[in-house]
Amino acid sequence: MSDQTLENLLQETRTFPPPPEFAAQANGTAEQYSRAADDREAFWAEQARRYVTWSTDFTQVLDWSEAPFAKWFADGELNACYNAVDRHVEAGHGDRVAIHFVGEPEGDSRDLTYNDLHVEVQRAANALADLGIGKGDTVAIYLPMIPEAAVAMLACARLGAPHSVVFGGFSAEALHSRIQDVQAKVVITADGGYRRGKPSALKPAVDAALEHGDTSVEKVLVVRRTGQDTDWTDDRDLWWHEAIEGARAEHTPTPVEAEHPLFVLYTSGTTGKPKGIFHATGGYLVQCAYTNAVVHDVHPETDVYWCTADIGWVTGHSYIVYGPMTLGATQVMYEGTPDTPHQGRYWEIVQDKKVSILYTAPTAIRTFMKWGEDIPAKFDMSSLRLLGSVGEPINPEAWMWYRRVIGGDRCPIVDTWWQTETGAIMISALPGVTAAKPGSAMRPIPGITADVVDDAGESVPNGSGGYLVIKEPWPSMLRGVWGDPERYKETYWSRFRDMYFAGDGAKKDADGDIWVLGRVDDVMNVSGHRLSTTEIESALVSHPKVAEAAVVGATDATTGQAVCAFVILRQEAVQEADEPGEGTELVAELRNHVAKEIGPIAKPRQIMIVQELPKTRSGKIMRRLLRDVAENREVGDVTTLADSSVMDLIKEGMSAGG
Ligand code: WT7
Repeated sequence: MSDQTLENLLQETRTFPPPPEFAAQANGTAEQYSRAADDREAFWAEQARRYVTWSTDFTQVLDWSEAPFAKWFADGELNACYNAVDRHVEAGHGDRVAIHFVGEPEGDSRDLTYNDLHVEVQRAANALADLGIGKGDTVAIYLPMIPEAAVAMLACARLGAPHSVVFGGFSAEALHSRIQDVQAKVVITADGGYRRGKPSALKPAVDAALEHGDTSVEKVLVVRRTGQDTDWTDDRDLWWHEAIEGARAEHTPTPVEAEHPLFVLYTSGTTGKPKGIFHATGGYLVQCAYTNAVVHDVHPETDVYWCTADIGWVTGHSYIVYGPMTLGATQVMYEGTPDTPHQGRYWEIVQDKKVSILYTAPTAIRTFMKWGEDIPAKFDMSSLRLLGSVGEPINPEAWMWYRRVIGGDRCPIVDTWWQTETGAIMISALPGVTAAKPGSAMRPIPGITADVVDDAGESVPNGSGGYLVIKEPWPSMLRGVWGDPERYKETYWSRFRDMYFAGDGAKKDADGDIWVLGRVDDVMNVSGHRLSTTEIESALVSHPKVAEAAVVGATDATTGQAVCAFVILRQEAVQEADEPGEGTELVAELRNHVAKEIGPIAKPRQIMIVQELPKTRSGKIMRRLLRDVAENREVGDVTTLADSSVMDLIKEGMSAGG
């Protein structure tokens, strides 16, 4: 973000206090801030007992004696699936709809009550147990957005088997490395899912990931979703519906220690290899349920909640599965894209299902702005009462549009800052308390101590910028990087002593409210998806025609950032690319290569073939300068370059159409 944009942002003076009727019924209250400030651990203990049922109560709240490795509620025991399903049935809410499933093909909808879910998770747990899955075994899940995804995750949790969900948009290669790293025994997938009006196959990627027989995978469970033709490996593959039908419908959940790992989720860091972020059962569940109650203001008896994220990202884990289901909420789950079969699909769903709480991403909001406000205007969205945003900074214009066009000027907006690593929301307005400012994530929620610090780790005064840090451990914090405790310490706890370094830049305005500005490391945020520059660079150089590559995230009006790659070709390939028309073909080939190595989401928007890359004398690529080129700006200070003429060469190449 340029300094000019930042200045504009910080001149944003509009505030939107909660409507009195909203404040009167809100779960989050001003008193929670003071209570948490008085005694943070007592505050969290209270939330832990309020939102979660423990099979064995805990006596200790936080154990920070082996910092930065935290233990929360360590001697307590619980089962996450029991909390998300069984206890609602026991409490007499079994007839409540848990999931209004809306498939992408029109008319393909079904409702699952908590009773239905209860039967499904027990059968699925028994089916997995029959395949040898027990406490501590890991299961990979590679599914479209269908109810079976939630059922599969919950069935694993029921057995104490950590799941590792891999987003369906990742390639076979990416799936393979994640399966390897987590040593999964079973993979749960589907024949395919519906995407942009067509069945889109998933199972072939699993087959490709397993084709070398070099993984720990013994069985593959396949959900039949599209009915498309699917290759079959007889002694390995089983149909999900057959396994489930054959399984008993009674299963006792396995209580686990609060610190038992609930799941692993891979996310991009600053190196080429994605990190397996793992979360512990107790603290994670507590903070997911608590934040879903006080930030999204979910009232399970009356609300219809809809989080549009995919289950393959942390937002889907925390705010589709574990948060809302632990609260016993009713929610919408939608399989497809926002423009299938028409650009009003989301608003039609809001109208039909009477959605009252909507949680989506700025990139989606900006896309809807582009499509025009006459589209949402065709639908009755008077059921909405709260809007949420997550994944990247939301610019004030998008915030205002969201409020006016979608929220009818009456719904509070919560802009929620958090990360895969934090597990749950950390910084956000409380919708019944905070007078929100368009574009600001506002304050740490009760129980969280976040701050903005300078290079030396000192808290900056109001009106200044720096690095976003968390000063004290929190219940849903990551417990580590799977199999790599050193990397955990190194990445998050070494930049500033005794503080968690989030990797984001931020500013405190005159009132002390926080404005998150984006990553300060080699991580990009494209449509709210986290991508590593280094990972895409490694994918590019793994192509035989590429000698060297540098990737930057350039500002993009719709996706926030876009991937731009600068590539130096190997000698043999240079001539070929010079022939008329061959350059564009090669660029297409390289883009597809990235899609194959990582996934279509990582495809560069632009690939520029260059002869040199700007490097310092010590050989470090100066991405800042490449970003200037990618964003069509005057190129900044080049004095630290080993060869300052390199930038002229790159710019010449660009204007010549290279
Ligand atoms: C990064 C984390 C949180 C779940 C989805 C993304 C950016 C996230 C906001 C926000 C500004 C935000 C940060 C963060 N981010 N929410 N409300 N305002 N930036 O999870 O993939 O782990 O990415 O997303 O840069 O570090 P993730």
